[in-house]
Amino acid sequence: MPSDARPRAQALWQQIRHHEERYYVHDNPEITDAEFDALMRELREIEAAHPELVSPESPTQRVGGRPVEGFAAAEHAAPMLSLENAYSADELRAFHARLCRALEIAEDTEFDYVAELKIDGLSIALTYEDGRLVRGVTRGDGVTGEDVTPNVRVIRAIPLQLNGTVPSVEIRGEVFLPRAAFDKTNEEREAADEAPFANPRNAAAGAIRTLDTAAVDRRGLRAFTYQVVPRDGELADVVTHRATLATLAGWGCPVEPHWAACHGIEAVVAYCDRWKTERRSLPFEIDGVVIKLDDLALRATVGATAKFPRWAVAFKFPTEQVTTRLLRIDVNVGRTGRVTPFAVLEPVLVSGTTVQLATLHNEQEISRRDIREGDVVIVEKGGEIIPKVIGPVVDEAHETRPRWVMPTTCKFCGSDLQKPDEEVIWRCENVSCPARIRRGLQHFSARKAMNIEGLGESWIDELVTRGLVHDYADLYALTVEKLATLSSTAKSPDGTKDVTRKFGEKNATKVAAEIEKSKGAGLARLLFGIGIRHVGEGGASALARAFGSMDALCAATIDAIEAVPDVGPVVAKAVRQFLDAPENGVLMSRLASAGVDMTAQNVAATFASQPLAGQTFVLTGTLPGLTRDEAGALIVERGGKVAGSVSKKTTYVVAGADAGSKLDKARALGVTVLDEAAFQALIMKA
Ligand code: IVH
Repeated sequence: MPSDARPRAQALWQQIRHHEERYYVHDNPEITDAEFDALMRELREIEAAHPELVSPESPTQRVGGRPVEGFAAAEHAAPMLSLENAYSADELRAFHARLCRALEIAEDTEFDYVAELKIDGLSIALTYEDGRLVRGVTRGDGVTGEDVTPNVRVIRAIPLQLNGTVPSVEIRGEVFLPRAAFDKTNEEREAADEAPFANPRNAAAGAIRTLDTAAVDRRGLRAFTYQVVPRDGELADVVTHRATLATLAGWGCPVEPHWAACHGIEAVVAYCDRWKTERRSLPFEIDGVVIKLDDLALRATVGATAKFPRWAVAFKFPTEQVTTRLLRIDVNVGRTGRVTPFAVLEPVLVSGTTVQLATLHNEQEISRRDIREGDVVIVEKGGEIIPKVIGPVVDEAHETRPRWVMPTTCKFCGSDLQKPDEEVIWRCENVSCPARIRRGLQHFSARKAMNIEGLGESWIDELVTRGLVHDYADLYALTVEKLATLSSTAKSPDGTKDVTRKFGEKNATKVAAEIEKSKGAGLARLLFGIGIRHVGEGGASALARAFGSMDALCAATIDAIEAVPDVGPVVAKAVRQFLDAPENGVLMSRLASAGVDMTAQNVAATFASQPLAGQTFVLTGTLPGLTRDEAGALIVERGGKVAGSVSKKTTYVVAGADAGSKLDKARALGVTVLDEAAFQALIMKA
């Protein structure tokens, strides 16, 4: 080995870490990306020639070569607690008063607090041994999380090696997606016909659980740290939270820089007030402020409840409202014929995203709130992605504008819209309405229904527009040739020209095979997929199990249907009405002649040996890698039941982050609590 290889490699490590820190921790790079890449390249070349110089802490070793196979459960050394919320200045003052009472001191005592921004991400625990990052674990249920070490290693803000000599510690913080990376993730998901993430927290949780480390790297996760849990005793010289933050920064950990020392609760109130608006200037989302007692000894005195430390509180920002012009009110028709009005708005920025459409619920709501086209309206975006119109800003011009009138004919098919007197929802009752068919086909081919992959929204639009498909049965008459002729035109990303996409032979062959495969999906999926009002996955499974075939269900009386467990009178009536409609009878015969399995033979056979039969699950909190729907489907597919509340009959409570009273009840009743990893393990076994 040339004698200068080792010192040069070490010098490069240090330079690279220095520049990673400048870029990812301080957002203040000193060199260009190209210069940084050159340093990395040189180090890679040295390491390729001298493999003995490679160690896991080398900056070249962040991205592992192999995909991760899954995540193991890992117990936290000390529970990762959650925080109690405060929603107003008075609730902050009440928190202060509680603290004073707990410390048995006068309520006008002015403590030193530290106020930090509350990052909208997910919490993570990082273990460093001898200064080296050895483990990264998600919060999970607070007691047990998932070991996501390979994914944590690709977050460049997180040091693989701490600066200086550091005792063994666990460092806690927040992993998050900056706004730009969050928007990009959602754009990609929408392009792939996947539902966008409602907030950066869900997006970060999804990213950290991705099995392909290189893909995690591409997502662009960042992190901030805010807590040190010493492994062996205390860090003797660190007695305040301010000192903790300084220590973390000294070790090279990312610390969000806008924290402030606040003397007295009124200074905290002022800080929270300021960040209600200043949050917009940040490149990442925050959902509040975290207020912490500065003195670590006082913290130890007040301690914690089972769920929250008494020394900290989360101030949550009120839901953001903005005003903009309501250009017009338009309506959509859903697959069941439901007509929903929505607002077309002059584009406006709400919580960092541009909003142009907002829901208006129904005709009655529009009239109750007296929302008129042309009004300036108040728009609100809560935790969810879809904003809503709260009401008009009533000015002089408002009265001069005509009241909005619900259309009486369907804009998609021209048929008369109907509304029974006692209901508020208007419907297009035409089963052949192209809008209904489009939505219906999307639902029919969805993963939980007939599971026809590759038939995205835009291709369904094409099939309907070209008159190739008028109902579900027509799907089964499609051939590779017909599918291959499909093409659609959309604007190029810069909006300057029209781009034509062709479905193509290869895609057509794949989708034709998917359609063929869906014939064997079985009665439960079919009943769910054809979109009978009020029949969800659970109801469809129960009906399939009880009757075994479409013929038997068609012959059943309304009383017999109502007698099925999990099926109530509303569902029974809807099922009978659907089956009695002559056009649906024709549709069923056509599906049957196309070879679609109308029996529950598969289901019945599986149900007989259903591993989770007789077991009841309650889902609570946010699971890091699964939506509740997905978790519910995994349970139901294996014969288990999902219930809404915990009782002695509950077999398992599956608890994610921020699980509330259901988790407490489970513990009180001695019901087994599973985190996502344990749940996945159970499902895998089942
Ligand atoms: S301290 C025991 N500081 O908010 C207290 N949490 O709602 C530990 N969070 O679970 C949390 N930014 O995931 C703390 N600056 C910050 C935070 C923060 C975001 C998250 C964290 C926690 C949740 C509680």
